Amino acid sequence: MPAPNIDTIVSLAKRRGFVFPSSEVYGGLGSAWDYGPLGVELCNNVKQSWWRWLVYERDDIEGVDSSIILNRTVWKYSGHEATFHDPLVDCRECKTRLRADKLELPSDTAEGADVVNLIKEKRVKCPNCGSTDLTEPRPFNMMLRTTLGAASADDDPTALAYLRPETAQGIFINFLNVQTTMRRKLPFGIAQVGKSFRNEITPGNFILRTREFEQMEMEYFVKPDAEHFKLVDEWVEQYMEWFVGLGLGKENLSLHEVPPNELAHYSKRTVDIMYRYFPERPDEERQWEELMGIAYRTDFDLRSHSNKPADEEGKRVNPDSTEDLSYFDETIKQRFYPHVIEPAAGVNRTVLAVLMDAYSERTNEKGETRVILKLSPQLAPIKAAILPLAKNKPEIVGMAKAVKRSLQPVLRAVYDDTGGIGKLYARQDEIGTPFCVTVDHQSLEDEAVTVRDRDTWEQERVKVSDLAEHLQKKLKP
Ligand code: GAP
Repeated sequence: MPAPNIDTIVSLAKRRGFVFPSSEVYGGLGSAWDYGPLGVELCNNVKQSWWRWLVYERDDIEGVDSSIILNRTVWKYSGHEATFHDPLVDCRECKTRLRADKLELPSDTAEGADVVNLIKEKRVKCPNCGSTDLTEPRPFNMMLRTTLGAASADDDPTALAYLRPETAQGIFINFLNVQTTMRRKLPFGIAQVGKSFRNEITPGNFILRTREFEQMEMEYFVKPDAEHFKLVDEWVEQYMEWFVGLGLGKENLSLHEVPPNELAHYSKRTVDIMYRYFPERPDEERQWEELMGIAYRTDFDLRSHSNKPADEEGKRVNPDSTEDLSYFDETIKQRFYPHVIEPAAGVNRTVLAVLMDAYSERTNEKGETRVILKLSPQLAPIKAAILPLAKNKPEIVGMAKAVKRSLQPVLRAVYDDTGGIGKLYARQDEIGTPFCVTVDHQSLEDEAVTVRDRDTWEQERVKVSDLAEHLQKKLKP
């Protein structure tokens, strides 16, 4: 039973130290969130799982970590300055800012009808106040701006810089650096994980859409004559498997082929993997939101960042670049711009999906309902909690602390004696700790402890000397 809605997770996340509203002591900051002690561990575990899967376990992918602030020219030639816009609409009545492409259109709207005309005809309602007095859509560039240099004025165009809206461009501009230093031949990929920023018009739904977020992107470089559409399908399949391996239910994942008129400026084909973030909505179609996208970006980016390509009149398309980011294929003795398949996933959306899917409730023998977060062991922030059965017995406390220290080098363990055993178990269940290890009077005699399983509540006795190996075996993905 996954979480019934996102609000259930918002409340659990705050109560148990996963995610807090940001800047709360000053009244908060809309759609900004801070990750607490357990949230940062969960995010790190998602990123590590992704990095291990792509960079360590495969032989054809390298990693990079590029700057968040790049030369502004990168965003000119990537197309973001000219095209990274959302259509912005204002409600004149309640002053709410809206995205034209997300407005609900009248039910009798003909397919392909122009939203501008519908707004002019006053047939579209503001979702906030119901007024039909809306402005016409105008393009709004979503890149977050800053200025560089101590003496720069806010309106000095030479000082203007952007916080990256995607990690991908930091990969493209390093394509040759990575390919030559690592002596790579096609096909190969470059992976990067890090923060991205977008001045979203309508952020919201907890960590689903925020202005600051984290991406896990990989650019997979292939030959121009590769079967690009088939490769998109292959990566879709591999990511579906990865998500299922993280604990997401197959029934909560679906695919969405992005229609040609909605493709990003660089894409010839994009398939989105969708997650059921809104199970409470009666209309099945509105239950889904994008978890990640897999795009065929052609050779658009490498070509546009290169100094060689010329237009019909023989003029260089990019007179600012100092490099040609092409690739020489020794086997066919030809130079070309590699084509790219790009799986682009969000860390925060993955974390939200994982939390929703892991949520479950169970009633104990006293009739009390308990929350159990059935996180996959590889993602659980804490792997084992060591609990003394009597906190007023120094020998038991000492032994429990020693057990915790002995586990620490191989797995994340915590010691907790801040409540009765029932309460301690409940707290660990609610944060997804797969194992509770109890030290009792008997432990002092037989050098053994009780290991309790989060999902079954079953208990077994294990020798302290075997404990680390026993837990490691059970924690293996
Ligand atoms: N380089 C391609 C690219 O950035 P995208 O579909 O715009 O593609 C990829 O973004 C992923 O990044 C999304 O599927 C989503 O998981 C995440 N993402 C994008 N915008 C986001 C936002 N405002 N808040 C949280 N995650 C976001």
